[in-house]
This record gives sequence, structure tokens and C-alpha cells, in this order.
Amino acid sequence: MAQLFDKSGISSIELSNRTVRSATWTGTGDERGFVTDLTCEFYNRLSRGGVGLIISGYQYVMPNAIQLPHMIGNYDDAQVPGLKKLAETVHAGGGKLVGQIVHTGFRANPKLFPQEGEIWAPSEINDPTVKHKVKAIPKNQILDLIQAYANAARRLKQAGFDGVQLHGAHGYGINQFLSPCWNQRGDSYGGSLSNRYRILGETLEAVRGEVGSDWPIMIKLSGADFVEKGMGIGETLEVGKRLADDGIDAIEISGGSASSPKNQGPVRTKIVQDNDEAYFADLAAQFKENVKVPIIAVGGFRSLQKIEEIIKNNIADYVSMARPFIREPRLVNRWLGGDISRATCISCNGCFETGLKGMGISCKIDRETAASGNS
Ligand SMILES: Cc1cc2nc3c(=O)[nH]c(=O)nc-3n(C[C@H](O)[C@H](O)[C@H](O)COP(=O)(O)O)c2cc1C
Ligand code: SF4
Repeated sequence: MAQLFDKSGISSIELSNRTVRSATWTGTGDERGFVTDLTCEFYNRLSRGGVGLIISGYQYVMPNAIQLPHMIGNYDDAQVPGLKKLAETVHAGGGKLVGQIVHTGFRANPKLFPQEGEIWAPSEINDPTVKHKVKAIPKNQILDLIQAYANAARRLKQAGFDGVQLHGAHGYGINQFLSPCWNQRGDSYGGSLSNRYRILGETLEAVRGEVGSDWPIMIKLSGADFVEKGMGIGETLEVGKRLADDGIDAIEISGGSASSPKNQGPVRTKIVQDNDEAYFADLAAQFKENVKVPIIAVGGFRSLQKIEEIIKNNIADYVSMARPFIREPRLVNRWLGGDISRATCISCNGCFETGLKGMGISCKIDRETAASGNS
């Protein structure tokens, strides 16, 4: 029976336990998306806190893919030295680091790249979350998009990262191609599931071609889109099986997007009691049963008891968290040290505020406590 604090491995990465820091935008990049000292400080704290694997915040693979301010970019070889410094920082702290890469498709923010081209989507879309004009990406530019992912993965490997995670969830570019609600193309990249999967299959092949056979390639997938005409578990499991056949090394199961109904997205609030936790665990369990690669469960984990239950009961191979590590970068070491009370994060999402202002994300509760002089 698997145990949370056992050693294990995903492809060539050796992991000291089965906890993962899920990808978290830190709002610490400079104007062009280069890694800063603030980025390294954030990851330095995290790498010393005992978490088995750290997945970086999403890195945009083309200038027209930036979504949030101060996002880290991975679209230019000049960014490799900063990424290298980040990987060295995490390794010096004893951590392992996988870089998450994304093209955000129609969720890109045109105000952040006024000179750098058009907003792409698989097809003309009618999504209430989008206020700007989008362009269906022409077939001949799909190859550029695939190559941008492959180049970004190559840069991560050059920089000394331990692997890459494709962002295939949360209604961003890959998810937009996979889902019939956003992909209404009439060519070989739209229509049937095989066609909607095509860009992902070709991206995986191109990335593998750049990084070789034994460097880990993972993906974060939405187990369900929680949006009308989106994918449900039937189609996402089919995607998972194809990815396994095509050589993916691990799949993290999330769900929903900014287009989902209130509190049905990936970053849910009101996780108050034990049974509010693990809100995508039922989706992860179905992947674990049907797709034979390591499965990572994410979404609302707060208590050691719940995490251990997921591992022992074979619902997933790994459990990842994002917000608990913003408040407590040393959470895993706290648990290992015997204080096994639940994570102190109250899931209010106040951590975005300072990130949006360019100061890096930080816990709102901690900020308020410090301001009231009670720290
Ligand atoms: C500040 C913040 C930034 C996030 N950035 C990313 C990201 O870059 N990529 C991603 O896949 N998910 C991102 N997420 C979602 C988390 O990875 C995770 O899926 C979600 O927060 C649920 O896990 P949690 O309940 O442990 O926070 C972010 C969440 C937060 C709160
Ligand atoms: S602000 Fe603090 S308590 Fe609120 S979600 Fe972020 S880390 Fe958790």
C-alpha cells in the first residue's frame, strides 16, 4: 500500500514524498516576464519546506499568451539564465522543480502586450468572460504554436528544471482546443475528439523530440469543464488514455475555468469542513482506475488525514496543493515534525491582490495580522 511519506518517482525524478505544490502564479516576473530576485526568494522558502515536488507558476510560451501581470515568460532564449537561477535556488533548498508552460489562447490579456500580435482562439468564440476581439488561429500558425511549447520545454531542460508540465486545464489554449464548447473548427483540428486532440498529441510529440525520452513530461488536465457543451469525464478519460499511449509521464486532475458557474472553477472558496476538501477527487479516482500513469489529485486539500486517505485508498498517486503553501511554505515539514493540524489557509483567495500590484502574491490573513500589530 502506498504511503504519503514514502520515496517514489515520476519517470526520472526521485521524490522524497507524495506531496506536490500545484502550479501557482506568483506575480514576481519583470515587465518582459524575466525571473527576478523576488521570484527566487519565493521559491527559496518553498523548497526548504519539505514538499516533494514543486510545479512552477504558468510560464507563457509566446508574447501573445500572457494573462496576468508579472507572469514568468518562457518565449526567448534570453530567459534561460533567470530560469536557471530559479532551478538552482530550488535545488539548493532540497526541492525538485517542474516548469508549467501555457498558451492562454483567448484568455490572454491584450493590455499586457499591445505591440505583440493578436489574441488567438481555436475558433471565433462566444464566451461571456471575453471582452476583446479574438482570431481563429490559422492552420499554418498552429505549427508555430506547437514549436513554441517545444522551445519552452527545451529551455526548461537547459535551465536545469527536473521536468515540464503542459497546462491542459482551466480553459486555457490546450483545453480550448480539446473542448467542443470553444473549438468549432472545421479543419483537422476541430470536430471529432481525435481532431480536437490532434494539437495536444502533436505538441507532446514535439516536446518529446526536444527533451528526449527520459525527461518527464506531465500535464494538468480538467477532468470536467463545468461549462455548457464542455467536456465531461467520458471525453476527458479518453484524452487521458491517448496521452498515456503517447508517452505522458503523469497527469494532474483539476477542473473548471473562469467560464464555469460561481465556485465551480479550479480555485474554489468556502473549504470549511473536511467534506469540502478534495473537490475533484472523484474525477481523479476515475483517471486512476482507467489511465495507467501516475495521477496527481488537486483542489481543496487542507488536512493530512484527507491526503493520506487519498494515497492509501489508491484514489491518486500524489496530492497537490497551491494556496496552503502560500500561507505555510513549510507545511509538509510541520506535519512531518508532528504538528498535524490542518493547513491554516482559509481559501479566501486574497493572495491574488498583492500579486496583481506587482509585489508578489502573499497571504491576506498574514498581511492583516501584520498591519494590526499582532504578528
Ligand atoms: C494565486 C494562485 C495562482 C495560481 N496559478 C496557477 C497557475 O499558474 N497554473 C495552474 O495550473 N493553476 C494555478 N492556480 C490553481 C492552483 O494550482 C490549484 O489548481 C487551485 O488553487 C486549487 O488548489 P488549492 O485548493 O490547493 O489552492 C493558482 C491558484 C492561485 C490561488
Ligand atoms: S490569502 Fe491566505 S488564507 Fe486566503 S487563500 Fe490566500 S493563502 Fe489562503
